[in-house]
Amino acid sequence: MTYRNIFDTHSHYDDEKFSADRDEVLFRLHENGVCGVIDCGCDKASSLEAIKLSEKFGFVYAAIGVHPHEAAEAKHRDLEELKTLYSKEKVVAVGEIGLDYHYDFSPRSIQLEFFEKQLILANELSLPVIIHDREAHEDTLNLLKKHRPRGVVHCFSGSAETAKQVLRLGMYIGLGGAVTFKNAKKPLEVAAAVPEDRLLLETDCPYMAPVPLRGSRCDSSMIAYTAEKIAQVRSCNVQELIDRCRENAKELFKI
Ligand code: NI
Repeated sequence: MTYRNIFDTHSHYDDEKFSADRDEVLFRLHENGVCGVIDCGCDKASSLEAIKLSEKFGFVYAAIGVHPHEAAEAKHRDLEELKTLYSKEKVVAVGEIGLDYHYDFSPRSIQLEFFEKQLILANELSLPVIIHDREAHEDTLNLLKKHRPRGVVHCFSGSAETAKQVLRLGMYIGLGGAVTFKNAKKPLEVAAAVPEDRLLLETDCPYMAPVPLRGSRCDSSMIAYTAEKIAQVRSCNVQELIDRCRENAKELFKI
């Protein structure tokens, strides 16, 4: 099973789990059918790393922003400093930003404040957003309705009904390894229902490795398993699905 044109719209190659062999992994990916990767920063330091990777590897692009987990630790000055970096050529999105009421690593009031500030910033810069929404669907949707950014809700974990609302706002749905998990009823319903021009493939690597590799360090080549599962529920050809999702990624991120 080898595919071409794999575009991973959500990765964290800046993560320390890649410290020992990051360059090797990235070189190998490109040889193995991965044509594009967006590395998402989660705070100032990882955003700077994402930019560095995008400058080193032609097929890597960067999203920069403050993740809800990091919001409590982040300084408002960090947002100001990040603001100066969005003009870099390969920075294609504001992300990863959003709300996480599952872990609640940052107080919700601070999560909401950082999320909204970055939604406003994305609109000012005319950049798409990459959104993390875990168990915070209502607050996420309300802010999306208020600010109407372009972008994607990544690792979409809501119901098919919530997906419809996201799609109505003109946004994209990102699906990754979770669709292959045993309890994947909701993600598979969403995978079957998303219009083909609004679907993006992703990993969230090094996390979320799909079955049968669940638990191992994930990388973008593993999208093959995710794509096979999605193609199965959509009754379509796997390579055609991968091709279409790549077109969608290029369209959204203007690559
Ligand atoms: Ni992520």
